[in-house]
Amino acid sequence: MTIQPVRKAVFPVAGLGTRFLPATKAMPKEMLTVVDRPLIQYAVEEALEAGIEQIIFVTGRGKGALEDHFDVSFELEATMKARGKSLAAIENIRQTPGSPVYVRQQEPLGLGHAVWCARHIVGDEPFAVLLPDELMVGGFLRQMVEAYERVGGNVIGALEVPDDQTHKYGVIDPGARDGRLTEVKALVEKPAAGSAPSNLMIPGRYILQPEVMRILDAHETGAGGEIQLTDAMAKLIGRQPFHGFTFDGRRYDCGDKLGFVQANLALALDREDIGPAVAEFARLHLN
Ligand code: G1P
Repeated sequence: MTIQPVRKAVFPVAGLGTRFLPATKAMPKEMLTVVDRPLIQYAVEEALEAGIEQIIFVTGRGKGALEDHFDVSFELEATMKARGKSLAAIENIRQTPGSPVYVRQQEPLGLGHAVWCARHIVGDEPFAVLLPDELMVGGFLRQMVEAYERVGGNVIGALEVPDDQTHKYGVIDPGARDGRLTEVKALVEKPAAGSAPSNLMIPGRYILQPEVMRILDAHETGAGGEIQLTDAMAKLIGRQPFHGFTFDGRRYDCGDKLGFVQANLALALDREDIGPAVAEFARLHLN
């Protein structure tokens, strides 16, 4: 079996962000800030650190700020240079010419549909999918790519959550476990309370073979009447190697207000410049 390298990553960013209204009324939810960077930047940096060369955004109306964020800001740079200010904070997010690529998802028909909208850019090679709502600290995709380079096929994130949380996610029916890798026997999207096959959920990180696009061509709908990525992936099980990978690091579900506030606090505490002052503030105010 030849294992093709993963060079491309798809970021579905067309969602409306209704859980964060009014903040997201006129601003993409992926631009919500954790300390001093927008959520999307954490996910893009995670992908670049994993060796991804081509960033693909599946975007929609009202998401122009994302394109500007990854572009050169001529006025800003010229003004900062003229004032002798360092450009370090914005330099690392300028992309190479031709990346990112932007495709549009014209209608919100589900995550599977969003990923399928990138099919012409992905072509016939394995690709990663990262959901930027999920902020990972510790190089999740890099660890997954290393595992993929050993086993090939499809490798998706697999993290344990409490039983009362499984109904919010895609859930893995696990087979044999070997270190951080778990064989995937079946997948179910948003199982009804009490019916999940395990408490191993899919935390928005995927390495997939291009055949999943051919399954998504059928536009079959699943949970919530949406075209689900989980259902399309489930059809690859038995045809190709399929593993879950349990990450050694931290996860913050920023699709949720509590997770978003926790991410801000935790990442602020991690920072050398403001961490000690934030800790002192928290200590005083929590007493
Ligand atoms: C999506 C996926 C789900 C996954 C989750 C991770 O759900 O469909 O399988 O577990 O992201 O955040 P959504 O959050 O879009 O409802």
